[in-house]
Amino acid sequence: MAKEAARNIGPVVLLGPPGAGKGTQSKKIVERYGIPQISTGDLLREHVRAGTDLGRQAKVVMDRGELVPDDLLYDLVADRLRQPDCRYGFILDGFPRTAAQAGWLDAFLDREVFEKKQEKCPPVVIRLDVDYNQLLQRLAGRRSCPTCERIYNIHLQPPRTDGLCDVDGTKLVIRDDDREEVVARRLSAYETQTRPVADYYHAQGRLVTINADRPVDEVTAAIFGVIDTHAAEHSDCEPSR
Ligand code: AP5
Repeated sequence: MAKEAARNIGPVVLLGPPGAGKGTQSKKIVERYGIPQISTGDLLREHVRAGTDLGRQAKVVMDRGELVPDDLLYDLVADRLRQPDCRYGFILDGFPRTAAQAGWLDAFLDREVFEKKQEKCPPVVIRLDVDYNQLLQRLAGRRSCPTCERIYNIHLQPPRTDGLCDVDGTKLVIRDDDREEVVARRLSAYETQTRPVADYYHAQGRLVTINADRPVDEVTAAIFGVIDTHAAEHSDCEPSR
């Protein structure tokens, strides 16, 4: 599907368990709407690679498959959302992940986007639902390109040449936290800590759930439908800066 001219989409929140396809679908949304993907997992992994204080603290927790403490995330996310490329909207992939983070995000958007900038476009919150066994298969087979970050799956979405990225030929890698015992803990953290986030948005009538147990392109089409409807309903939105 072709990329659209930049227009105000506003915040898009993608919720879903590990392996639901948040990263895969975020890249499709970036391509079509020209708004940036803000993945807290990617931001944290950048800090780990750079060996910062935050990276060192986060790595210990991420390697265990647990959630990084909320207060380590807030400055990271706020700094990223204040960048000019978020002007027409952004995709939050993997944030919020606890009820406290959801409350923090609402307060941030009210304070820094809705009120100060007279922005009228509320976030659209999309939850990707996938069967548990399918999640296990997706995570066990995931490979990604360390250069362009394209995501593959050796069972479900293999690269054209075994082990190499289709785009730049880089050797594909396995994420540290995709080991079987860590995956189980990540899925359990989702159930206990992130499901309440969906409940939080559901209670406000803002949650749209999509069956993501389908081929990638079908899920993408469903997501675009939700975003287009939301953007049409808020066509009076002003760019936030
Ligand atoms: P993060 O990087 O956010 O990982 P995650 O949420 O566990 O999600 P994943 O990246 O594993 O999966 P995904 O939904 O993006 O699926 P993908 O598109 O890759 O977080 C990592 C860690 O960082 C956390 O455990 C935590 O410690 C920390 N962290 C991050 N954010 C935090 C926060 N806010 N608070 C606290 N801690 C935080 O797809 C998976 C596979 O499936 C791929 O192989 C793909 O090719 C395949 N696939 C995708 N869609 C389909 C489809 N429709 N059909 C077939 N295959 C598909």
